[in-house]
Amino acid sequence: MASIGRADRAEDRARAAALLRQGELVAFPTETVYGLGADATNGRAVAAIFAAKQRPAFNPLIAHLADVGAVEAFALWNDAARALAEAFWPGALTLVLPRRNDCAIAPIASAGLDSVALRVPSHPDAHALLAAVQRPVAAPSANRSGRISPTTAAHVEQELGDKVALILDGGPCEIGLESTVVGFPSGRPVLLRPGGISMEQLQAVAGAVVVGSDSADSPSAPGQLASHYAPGKGLRLNATAAGSDEVLLGFGPNFAAAHNLSPKGDLIEAAANLFALLRQLDQEPGAAIAVAPIPEDGLGRAINDRLRRAAAPRPC
Ligand code: TXA
Ligand code: MG
Repeated sequence: MASIGRADRAEDRARAAALLRQGELVAFPTETVYGLGADATNGRAVAAIFAAKQRPAFNPLIAHLADVGAVEAFALWNDAARALAEAFWPGALTLVLPRRNDCAIAPIASAGLDSVALRVPSHPDAHALLAAVQRPVAAPSANRSGRISPTTAAHVEQELGDKVALILDGGPCEIGLESTVVGFPSGRPVLLRPGGISMEQLQAVAGAVVVGSDSADSPSAPGQLASHYAPGKGLRLNATAAGSDEVLLGFGPNFAAAHNLSPKGDLIEAAANLFALLRQLDQEPGAAIAVAPIPEDGLGRAINDRLRRAAAPRPC
């Protein structure tokens, strides 16, 4: 099993940074979900991420940076991206930008695309780790491909405990949903994956934001694969009650369910609880999970996006 360190202890972070620089995999906390990190400039280390996750190789990864100033070494800015970075970094936003010709991020990290996905996380221990590594760190969510994203170190251990050199434990993730991914294919912002920064927040800064096409055939973001984030059990959405052989996941005060994403109906709380509750209900008796309706605004969009993917028919 993986060795576990404390994310808030400098000597554990120094060990993590040394392992990353040696090409090892290290799982670490961010404000969104736990990341499965590798030195993004080391193609072998990045390949080890795909192997550990058993992830389809066409899925490009996010490179995490300690500071906004590091961006220009790897990618080309545009005005809309700068405005979004200024408003939401450090934080739960990923920007997909054109790669610089001399970009040191390994091509496999962006699946051979001529763009790179970059994020400056706000979690203080993630920031301190990245500052210690002094290289961009490629990190998808630290779960096996297509499974629920981990929001605690224990989840990471269950998923990938035998595949990582070290897990840094920073407690539960504050946001509990992946970052919002925004690209600029023609200079204008396009939402590629809903996440921790809502559409309303993006629009307040960038004006019109186009929603990227949700094509399962040619996913530009694997969050767009039809069945993703899937628990082992089936999911039934917009349920008002559990059927026989179902376990109910409630939302809001009208659901006296044993499990409720947010008894007071708070979407931020629901987002923070989502993956942990899906994972928990997956372990309980019952053939399927019946999920209460979630309002389609603010973080509700991202929650529903995850739920729809979890409920989609599974690839064989
Ligand atoms: O919150 C998060 O974003 C977490 C934490 C660990 O930072 N990371 C994460 O990474 O969710 P991952 O690899 O699971 O998701 C990366 C997302 C995918 O939707 C991917 O397709 C998109 O970013 N992406 C990455 N590079 C891209 C590119 N060059 N063009 C389009 N989409 C890209
Ligand atoms: Mg993921």
